[in-house]
Amino acid sequence: MTWCARYCRGSRSGRWREKAGKAEDRKSKDQEKQKLGKDDRSLLLLLLFLTLAFPSLWLSCLVLFLPFGLLYCGSMLKLVLEQGREAADVALEELLPPATQHPSSIHQAMRHSVFAGGKRLRPILCMEAGRMIRAGADAHSRARSHTQSNAAASSEKSSSAKLPYAASLPPGIDQVGAALEMLHTYSLIHDDLPALDNDDLRRGRPTCHKAFGEAIAILAGDALQTRVYEVLAQLICPAEARVEIIREIAHATGTVDGMIGGQVVDLEAEHKKPDLATLEYIHRSKTAALIAASVVSGGIYAGGSAGDIVRLRIYGQSIGLAFQIVDDVLDLTQTSEQLGKTAGKDAAAEKATYPALFGFEESIHRADALVDQACAELNEYGEGAATLKELARYLAARKS
Ligand code: IPE
Ligand code: IPE
Ligand code: MG
Ligand code: MG
Ligand code: MG
Repeated sequence: MTWCARYCRGSRSGRWREKAGKAEDRKSKDQEKQKLGKDDRSLLLLLLFLTLAFPSLWLSCLVLFLPFGLLYCGSMLKLVLEQGREAADVALEELLPPATQHPSSIHQAMRHSVFAGGKRLRPILCMEAGRMIRAGADAHSRARSHTQSNAAASSEKSSSAKLPYAASLPPGIDQVGAALEMLHTYSLIHDDLPALDNDDLRRGRPTCHKAFGEAIAILAGDALQTRVYEVLAQLICPAEARVEIIREIAHATGTVDGMIGGQVVDLEAEHKKPDLATLEYIHRSKTAALIAASVVSGGIYAGGSAGDIVRLRIYGQSIGLAFQIVDDVLDLTQTSEQLGKTAGKDAAAEKATYPALFGFEESIHRADALVDQACAELNEYGEGAATLKELARYLAARKS
């Protein structure tokens, strides 16, 4: 017998042995399945018996395990708030000119207001919306075309991508978040000016005009807004998404249903009895527009569909209005130390606020209802929307 015949016979008997082995495996797996089936049935019967015999057992389990569930949710929210804030701060540090850059007075003023310690809610909402859309199965494939191919370039560009939290986000989305925070800070600097709300305290520090004078404060606000569009123009995403994000954010800042329009009507409504239509216009425009643009921009960046954008917009508009209602309530109920800004200013300036029109209880009730509406809008994302829903509840329950 040649080596070749021996090899063939050997290999054939080897294949037979393999086949026989597989048949054995299948048989034992079938037996296992049957055993598992019996076990499952016994387990079900046992559970049925326990449910009927000891209904209080389930109540005890609920009482025992609910706090752990809540603790888990609470710690998720804490992680998102802390690490989201850190990611936004790292990006802001990179994107703002150093304080020593000539002319240094304006760069110091910009940094004074940006790094005074805001909550960074707009960047966090933007990044979380991006994460939710990216995590969705079909959105993932759409997002891949612009995120994966540029991932290397993006993580090189942004050192915040080295943080584990940031690494779980669509690469480069921290730049959108940082741009939103610059825009928000510009709106705060101008809101505090003597010609508007005339405030001395912001984020626990003297306001920009108190520290640097009115002229530099006005210019610092302008400079932050200008830098926003320079940053957005360089986003690492397809050109259409980049243009759409720029349009979205510019519109939310503008005069037609945007932040500036809302600020105009807010000033013109001082010392007058507000009606609901005017009050809603003010709050939706001066505050909710930028909050909605934050979640929508995150969704666009992550490659969200038209349907995703509609849902995110409704969610953002609802939590945005709730956010300003709560801001009005906190102005009445908290101290300046707790808020980091002067408390009680709205009543003193006879501003159009929810508590002024509806009272404290009804204002809280309306804010809660808006949060419920916002959460319901995200139901179809299932567990993927858990963090955005937690954030919505946090915004309504916050104390500063
Ligand atoms: C304050 O916004 C201005 C409003 C739109 C009510 P935030 O409460 O988000 O302020 P910071 O960013 O945490 O300072
Ligand atoms: C300002 O609203 C909203 C902005 C567009 C900045 P408020 O005037 O109520 O904000 P605070 O209370 O000064 O932060
Ligand atoms: Mg104001
Ligand atoms: Mg103000
Ligand atoms: Mg306020």
